[in-house]
Amino acid sequence: ITVMTKAAGKAARHLKRDFGEVENLQVSRKGPADFVSNADLKAEKILREELSHARPNFGFLMEESGASEGDDTLQRRWIVDPLDGTTNFLHGLPHFAISLALEERGEIVAAVVYDPIKDEMFTAEKGNGTFLNDRRLRVSSRRRMDEAIFATGIPFKGLEGHERFLDEVREVMAVSAGVRRWGTASLDLAYVAAGRFDGFWEWGLQPWDYSAGALLVREAGGYISEIGGRSLSSKSPNLVCANTNLHRELDELLRKSRKA
Ligand code: IPD
Repeated sequence: ITVMTKAAGKAARHLKRDFGEVENLQVSRKGPADFVSNADLKAEKILREELSHARPNFGFLMEESGASEGDDTLQRRWIVDPLDGTTNFLHGLPHFAISLALEERGEIVAAVVYDPIKDEMFTAEKGNGTFLNDRRLRVSSRRRMDEAIFATGIPFKGLEGHERFLDEVREVMAVSAGVRRWGTASLDLAYVAAGRFDGFWEWGLQPWDYSAGALLVREAGGYISEIGGRSLSSKSPNLVCANTNLHRELDELLRKSRKA
């Protein structure tokens, strides 16, 4: 984990500098409302250098440069989003993160999500709990939907889930204390782990958006699955997570609103 927090810290220093001069960045568009800037690319390069220096034989799966194989016998690889919340970043909204996960034989065993603006370093190792800086985290213990706040992400136009998104939000809003859309999936998950949000759902996430955050939630005692209850298995899951009291109710609501 120290290798990961060190790498995240170094990339974060560059992101913070670029955030201060965001108007000078070169930006290109990957898809509808999906951007990449030279800040993402620079941070990704730093992370690749740092991580491969520390662990030369691990592979990579990175948001901007894709997958590369290592030659590690335990098939370990880093799953990296150098800048989660690119759109926030490019608009000067101080809510974005670096997300790093370590996968071993297909299973996530360590996770770091770092918010450089608030200096919040969320970490988890399988079996050892979730921490925010040095403080141990637990998901919330709320039992009532009408006291709970849920986060979500809006699927990009053209993706599964985009069209019916508003119906879904309306249903959840009708029974809960509110819905938030903050635009950085890894932090949404970290906030569920911290008990700030009681749950989170989003359609069609990518491995670099959720791999680290999913371990944070699990190790903080939360429950995470595909919408519909199956265990998280696909590469781009429709993900729902919450504390164990509320997961089922939220999942059922989402399922019902899709059928309606
Ligand atoms: C995006 C953010 C956003 C989520 C999108 C992701 P990016 O990641 O996590 O919250 O709604 O699905 O693609 O592109 O900013 O790294």
